[in-house]
Amino acid sequence: MELPWAEPYKIKMTEEIRLSSREERNKWIEEADYNLFNLDSDKVFIDLLTDSGTGAMSDKQWAEMMIGDESYAGSRSFRKLKTVVENVLGFPYTLPTHQGRAAENVLFTVLVKEGMLVPGNSHFDTTKGHIEFRKAQAIDCTIDEAFDINDMHPFKGNIDLNKLEQVYKNHPKEQIPFCLITITCNSSGGQPVSIANIKAVKELSDQYGIPVYFDAARFAENAYFIKEREEGYKDKSIKEIVKEMFSYGEGFTMSAKKDGLVNIGGILALRNEDLYRSCGNFGIIYEGYLTYGGLAGRDLGALAQGLLESTEYDYLKSRINQVEYLGEKLIAFGIPVQKPIGGHAVFIDALNFLPKVPRAEYPAQSLGIELYLEAGIRGVEIGTLLADRDPETRLDRFPKLELLRLAIPRRTYTFKHMDYIAVALKNIYERRDEITSGYQIVWEADILRHFTVKLRRA
Ligand code: F0G
Repeated sequence: MELPWAEPYKIKMTEEIRLSSREERNKWIEEADYNLFNLDSDKVFIDLLTDSGTGAMSDKQWAEMMIGDESYAGSRSFRKLKTVVENVLGFPYTLPTHQGRAAENVLFTVLVKEGMLVPGNSHFDTTKGHIEFRKAQAIDCTIDEAFDINDMHPFKGNIDLNKLEQVYKNHPKEQIPFCLITITCNSSGGQPVSIANIKAVKELSDQYGIPVYFDAARFAENAYFIKEREEGYKDKSIKEIVKEMFSYGEGFTMSAKKDGLVNIGGILALRNEDLYRSCGNFGIIYEGYLTYGGLAGRDLGALAQGLLESTEYDYLKSRINQVEYLGEKLIAFGIPVQKPIGGHAVFIDALNFLPKVPRAEYPAQSLGIELYLEAGIRGVEIGTLLADRDPETRLDRFPKLELLRLAIPRRTYTFKHMDYIAVALKNIYERRDEITSGYQIVWEADILRHFTVKLRRA
């Protein structure tokens, strides 16, 4: 018999979590204005709000925490990080930042101006926020297959070259500071981008004189999918694939809280020295001196080690297999999910799960609340609340998909936890016909409203 596969680590420390009663949860969610972000974490049993900064560090990363060099300038821990970014990811210039959106802020302050267009594949909400805040526009050029949850395209994060060329053709190059490729593409379901697509985007962008940048939050998971799915990459190591992927870009912004395997941190990595100098000035104003960027020395060391670990095949296999295991369970129960299962999360199609909840009453948020009430599990809405209002008309923007994301923290929960989550969803699915109404907004912020929105039952 072939030996089954098992995690390439054992667990050295545990953290208690407590299951509450349905009565308690009913009270707590009402007190939280039906916004899952407002819940205290100890009122949550399994927290799938995000895979960002919620993972477990390894013994080697904790060792880095102990030997971190806290010097304001020229810290040894920074040099460790810079060396890894240079050798593993292929960029000579590294600016640490306190998290991903801070790296976006620094880069976009230099490159993005009013009236500009930033094409890409389903920009993440903070990325779009940073673009729109500068009165520029994010243009989504993701392939159409990404919006059909049953389409089995292996690289649903890909950019549609025709859509991209339309943007390039119809606008002067001065209006387009760069094309941004998000790997993996979070907003379309944690879906990967193929090397072939990255290469083609680079070639097309070169023709029009437009640089390519990456949003590299989940770059290692993207590389894993390339190895598993793309012709010609089966025998390459993850580190070889990562090097090739990044060779097609001028730089990246990275939320290191995902594939950096740390609880806080970000990176802006660049190829060009002049741009590094310009960004460095804003890095210093917004984040901190060039060699720490808002992080402690120990954070920089743990991040350097995290990048080495996340680009190991065995780690990635265990990580992505766990997400897939949950996804396959849900599929077996007939629950509509984005397929193929993405790298960091399972995305449930709330329009199909709760067809009786009107679109204007936020079906994905409604499903998120049901899941919390059923089992103390916290997911996150990737739908109309997240999409914000149109900045011009102030009307709700209804995205093509209305999803509930169950993001799986790295090295944190066990396969039994996945079984528990799957059964909770099955129970709700079996009584879905009884759920006929959703929620209404009581109060909302002008931008990024989903974090603080207050709701009531419709
Ligand atoms: N880009 C992508 C693709 C992201 O998923 C995120 C964060 C960011 C940028 C911003 O990074 O949080 O470190 O400032 N995503 C988290 C999530 C919050 O839950 O998906 P950050």
